[in-house]
Amino acid sequence: MRDPTKELIGRKKLELDTPCLVVDLDLLDENLQKMQAWVKAAGKALRPHAKTHKCSTLAKMQVANGAIGICAAKVSEAEALINAGMSGVLITGPVAGREKINRMVSLLERAPFLMAVVDHPATIALLQGRLAENGRQLDVLLDLDVGQRRTGVPPARAADLAEAILSSGNLRLRGVQAYAGHVQHIPRYEDRKAASREALGKAAAVFKQMRQRVESCTVFSASGTGTARIDLSSPELTELQAGSYALMDAEYLAIESADGSDAADYHPALTMLTTVVSGPHGRQVTVDAGLKALYRDGGRPRVLNPEYGKLQYDWFGDEYGKLSAPNRATLLPELGMVLEMVVSHCDPTVNLFDRLHITRAGKLVDVWPIDLRGRCQ
Ligand SMILES: Cc1ncc(COP(=O)(O)O)c(C=O)c1O
Repeated sequence: MRDPTKELIGRKKLELDTPCLVVDLDLLDENLQKMQAWVKAAGKALRPHAKTHKCSTLAKMQVANGAIGICAAKVSEAEALINAGMSGVLITGPVAGREKINRMVSLLERAPFLMAVVDHPATIALLQGRLAENGRQLDVLLDLDVGQRRTGVPPARAADLAEAILSSGNLRLRGVQAYAGHVQHIPRYEDRKAASREALGKAAAVFKQMRQRVESCTVFSASGTGTARIDLSSPELTELQAGSYALMDAEYLAIESADGSDAADYHPALTMLTTVVSGPHGRQVTVDAGLKALYRDGGRPRVLNPEYGKLQYDWFGDEYGKLSAPNRATLLPELGMVLEMVVSHCDPTVNLFDRLHITRAGKLVDVWPIDLRGRCQ
């Protein structure tokens, strides 16, 4: 089917209809290559997380750059990635309940190398029943809670769960997952390093024991954008599942990088274009990106236009935002002017749009569907 948005190709970035999401292809490419080079130099593998960009075209670009597969947060995200022809999919969130388990097991028909995580004996029992009925095997990682208390079992209970997997029959224990979400945004690099070392250390001890006992246990998957460079020095870690590094956001730009500077390791490849639709109202103008366009979480969106960099964005209801000048000397943009901002938190913002506008040197070169959008099941 003809995609009318493709007819815009060649148009100048600042002439796109707003609010919209824009990705600078060169910056994206640099981010992907940088991470891949660090991972390769450390002798590790990269299975990046697609939950942050929700775009199978971008996921394929990551694989083309050397990633061994792709992570999905939920079964519905995995379905979309598999529908797009991707393999090496790891579902990083625990799957609970009969319906969801049936849905995941039916994916094995098209994706025999699908991997999932487990963190509860009841899930292992349900999964085992369904897999046996279907005559299928599923590779699983034991999900470890290394401090976030969101999913996973505490390391002290890992041995019991490993036993349940090993005696199940149709589940194959492939290793462990230990995502330390609670440490990714610790602002100071040294604090983040200490917290990540502690979190991963606990998981490494479990992994070493399991690896000695079980031949198929070869995967230790962990890490995110905030700790990737720290975690690469863990001898036990085998693969990283970082995600935000590809597009980046204000929340990640705000943390200190490895050399202690404010300059982030990765570029803000993703931005939002927004237009001034009203004002000035005193020392502020109103723009067309509000709650329905910019998810309110994480850092404050940052205006990138150098002459307007001092303006502060605030959410101003569903449809609007306001840009306020800190003092009289600060220039306000005129009605109709298009501004470019780094979004606060990339994952839930991307989830609000249908497409990414791909630009190079200020011109639209492609339009990629955000095909995992809304897939939170
Ligand atoms: C389980 C899991 N792995 C990896 C990631 C990717 O982390 P980041 O976006 O910090 O790189 C996330 C993000 O929330 C996650 O939940």
